[in-house]
Amino acid sequence: MSAQLRAVAADAPVALSCEAIERSFGGLRALKGVSLDLREGEILGLVGPNGSGKTTMVNVVTGFYPPSAGRVCLFGEDITSLKPHRIAARGVARTFQNLALFKGMSVLDNILIGRHTHMRPSALGALFYWWWAEREELAHRRVVEDVIEFMQLQDIRDEPVEVIPLGLQKRVELARALVAEPRLLILDEPMAGMNQEEKEYIARFVLDAREARGVSILIIEHHMDVVTSICDRVVVLSYGEVISQGAPQEAIGHPAVVSAYLGERAARRHQAGSAA
Ligand SMILES: Nc1ncnc2c1ncn2[C@@H]1O[C@H](COP(=O)(O)OP(=O)(O)O)[C@@H](O)[C@H]1O
Ligand SMILES: [Mg+2]
Repeated sequence: MSAQLRAVAADAPVALSCEAIERSFGGLRALKGVSLDLREGEILGLVGPNGSGKTTMVNVVTGFYPPSAGRVCLFGEDITSLKPHRIAARGVARTFQNLALFKGMSVLDNILIGRHTHMRPSALGALFYWWWAEREELAHRRVVEDVIEFMQLQDIRDEPVEVIPLGLQKRVELARALVAEPRLLILDEPMAGMNQEEKEYIARFVLDAREARGVSILIIEHHMDVVTSICDRVVVLSYGEVISQGAPQEAIGHPAVVSAYLGERAARRHQAGSAA
């Protein structure tokens, strides 16, 4: 994998700005005042040990979990606590840590669902419904076909999604996010469970999505080789706090980060020991 293809100008407009985000679940403070900025055209890595609050942060940004305090701005507009579909309509698409594909439906139909933010239900009752529907359908199909080609999913487009291997299912989910033509794409562990070759595929698609579509990307990823090769910048969370940020190598190599991961490993050993 090559280094980043393009450095993001430090004065590029801010796509996503999170200020002092707090989120609790009962007595657990999952996010303790997390702030981060993502510039337009940037690929920002969000890393940290398990349970550090990465997915919660994504859920706050996408409106699934309104924050208990703090502010989220998207392209300069306050979107804090807007409903998920409103945030999606403003150009945010995501993939899920645990795949959220529809079993029993084909690859193609799963991808088509990603177009729903662009469809206009109000027009359903229109007099010229069929004429309109046909034209709408064609326009959607064109975007979808384009993405299917881009993601190299032509050969399996008609397969039921549950019969294809996990690596390809992850790719279908990414395709579904891309057909929404997002301005901000959020990927929650898109390479989990993948082999080296599949990981490199996804890394390539992520870089190409930024290059060809100018999309800004927030990516949660555990594979540090991938993070250092495709991210412009990295933010590291531990127990709901930012413990390091900056250029990938430096941010990840920070002593606080090294000890956070060592702590995670020790906790896992301890758990395994007490389970035995
Ligand atoms: N819906 C929820 N209800 C209760 N606790 C949650 C919920 N979602 C996340 N948490 C807790 O918040 C913390 C952060 O979780 P998460 O954001 O999923 O971490 P990460 O994605 O970094 O592994 C964890 O302690 C987790 O158990
Ligand atoms: Mg997570």
